[in-house]
Amino acid sequence: MPRMQLLKWLEKHPCSAIVILADSAVWELYDTLFDGLERYASITLMTIQGGEQAKSLETVSALWKKMLENRIDKEALLLNVGGGSVSDAGGLVAATYKRGIRYINVPTTLLAMVDAATGGKTAINFNGIKNSIGVIALPQEVFISTLFLQSLPGEELLNGFAELLKYALIADSALWRTVRNLTEINGDTVLPKWIEGAVAFKKRVVAQDLHDRGVRRCLNFGHTAGHALEAFFYGRAPLTHGHAVALGMAVEAWLSHFCGSLPRQEAIDIQQFIARFYPFVKLQDSDVQEITALCLQDKKSSFGAINCTLLAQTGHYTVNNSVSSEDMQMALHSVFS
Ligand SMILES: NC(=O)c1ccc[n+]([C@@H]2O[C@H](COP(=O)([O-])OP(=O)(O)OC[C@H]3O[C@@H](n4cnc5c(N)ncnc54)[C@H](O)[C@@H]3O)[C@@H](O)[C@H]2O)c1
Repeated sequence: MPRMQLLKWLEKHPCSAIVILADSAVWELYDTLFDGLERYASITLMTIQGGEQAKSLETVSALWKKMLENRIDKEALLLNVGGGSVSDAGGLVAATYKRGIRYINVPTTLLAMVDAATGGKTAINFNGIKNSIGVIALPQEVFISTLFLQSLPGEELLNGFAELLKYALIADSALWRTVRNLTEINGDTVLPKWIEGAVAFKKRVVAQDLHDRGVRRCLNFGHTAGHALEAFFYGRAPLTHGHAVALGMAVEAWLSHFCGSLPRQEAIDIQQFIARFYPFVKLQDSDVQEITALCLQDKKSSFGAINCTLLAQTGHYTVNNSVSSEDMQMALHSVFS
């Protein structure tokens, strides 16, 4: 339970104040889980609406202002309670307030549990550009409780499940063999030990490459095609980020077969599993060309080649693979024709 973990942490780490930045919908349901913190330090609470709009200069600026007004000093702790939108914005506030104070994330979405809350990437969206302003600053701790998943809407669960599936495909073939039998994804079928595995893996990767210059790129599996698909469908029938990444993984599984050593049957199995939970429509050849052009605009692409993380086999990845436009088109056709 986050409460017990927090109380234990506070016992060992004195704080001059605790600033809580909470998703208002989450706080309404779970505020009593945080009872007792006031025994350790005075509490300043700020609730915000979760979702992309939370990642704004307005949120960050309102929190800076409130913290200054409440005379919060450098020995304070910022506690982020919510999904990735809250930990991204709150992490940035913690990293910048008085040149940096400590922060702890209590993630309440599956996506934040397996991904966003760990790894220290903080950001807001600015001038219409997602994650354009941010810093890397690691949280002191990430306290996870799957209790929060009970109230999470199905679409949000699927959004996070895509990242859990990514972890299984790149690093945990035993988990892949387990999850491929799932017929339902809900707060009960997603097991805490899977989340623990994903978090431990991400922590290991981040410890080797905090600034995303090498091995951290393994976490991009599915994301090159996924971002292009997300952009392509944006003006048509928008996909959630997780949905786009899931479809991106199906495409990149085929690429792993065409350009690497993934057996054809594995690519088929991955695609069929993804199609069970993440529906998609057939695409025309002109759509495939448009999506390929979007892949070439990816920041990792250069010299006319697309940079992808691929699977050598399930549970094993290779980073920095150069993929041609023709290969990408073939993989897109394999999924969407
Ligand atoms: N920093 C990173 O490494 C990293 C990684 C992946 C994603 N992200 C960022 O994470 C953000 C998305 O975060 P997210 O998907 O966690 O969701 P979110 O924070 O945007 O929240 C999504 C919705 O779920 C609601 N919600 C949250 N917890 C709930 C609960 N327990 N019960 C009921 N409703 C709940 C919120 O109120 C909101 O309406 C994006 O902005 C993305 O850029 C960051």
